[in-house]
Amino acid sequence: MSVRLKRPPFEITTDPSRFDLDQIWRWLSGSYWATGIPRALVERSIRGALCFGILEGRRQVGLARVITDGATFAYLADVFVDESARGRGLARWLMQAILAHPELQGLRRWLLATRDAHRLYAGAGFRPLAHPEVFMEINRPGIYQSNSAMMRGERSSPAPHAKRQARATRVRSSRRARRASG
Ligand SMILES: CC(C)(COP(=O)(O)OP(=O)(O)OC[C@H]1O[C@@H](n2cnc3c(N)ncnc32)[C@H](O)[C@@H]1OP(=O)(O)O)[C@@H](O)C(=O)NCCC(=O)NCCS
Repeated sequence: MSVRLKRPPFEITTDPSRFDLDQIWRWLSGSYWATGIPRALVERSIRGALCFGILEGRRQVGLARVITDGATFAYLADVFVDESARGRGLARWLMQAILAHPELQGLRRWLLATRDAHRLYAGAGFRPLAHPEVFMEINRPGIYQSNSAMMRGERSSPAPHAKRQARATRVRSSRRARRASG
């Protein structure tokens, strides 16, 4: 079921056929959490989630993705408002639209991660984890940068511990060489 809410000149829609994927890709590939994400992956991630777009006419102004089973759990991701439209309450409106969506009622848990927009989410009812010790994660920050570096055939610079190990090996072998020659 596709939702459409209006607050002229803006509207919120969950119909992904109206989204501007190029714009969304530009935002996300430049974001701090998905730097360098390939366009095809953005497209797949939109297909696999319940997405909310803010439009001004045909212009994409905002986005949020809700990754959910539609019954017990939802993860809120990729919340973005175009720089030109920030500070006008659009993200707050987006949060209200998301939490009021008929397919997202009665969930046991909502999760999200943010570096600095806690105030936005606190206004929508999110709180810091009450028991962070019960959560675990597999986290791969920078995954798109290393993938694209690999695709470009660049060698990644060695990790600091690998550098230390290499230096120690060089020192040991030069000592051995000095002992052997002296
Ligand atoms: C964060 C973002 C979505 C907010 O959009 P916005 O439309 O300007 O936000 P709103 O005008 O609806 O502001 C809603 C509330 O969030 C607060 N807020 C907005 N951006 C914030 C930020 N970067 N850090 C802290 N608080 C922020 C506002 O002060 C406001 O609080 P108030 O209601 O208590 O006054 C937007 O700045 C953005 O897209 N930033 C870049 C991408 C990003 O960081 N996304 C969030 C990833 S978790």
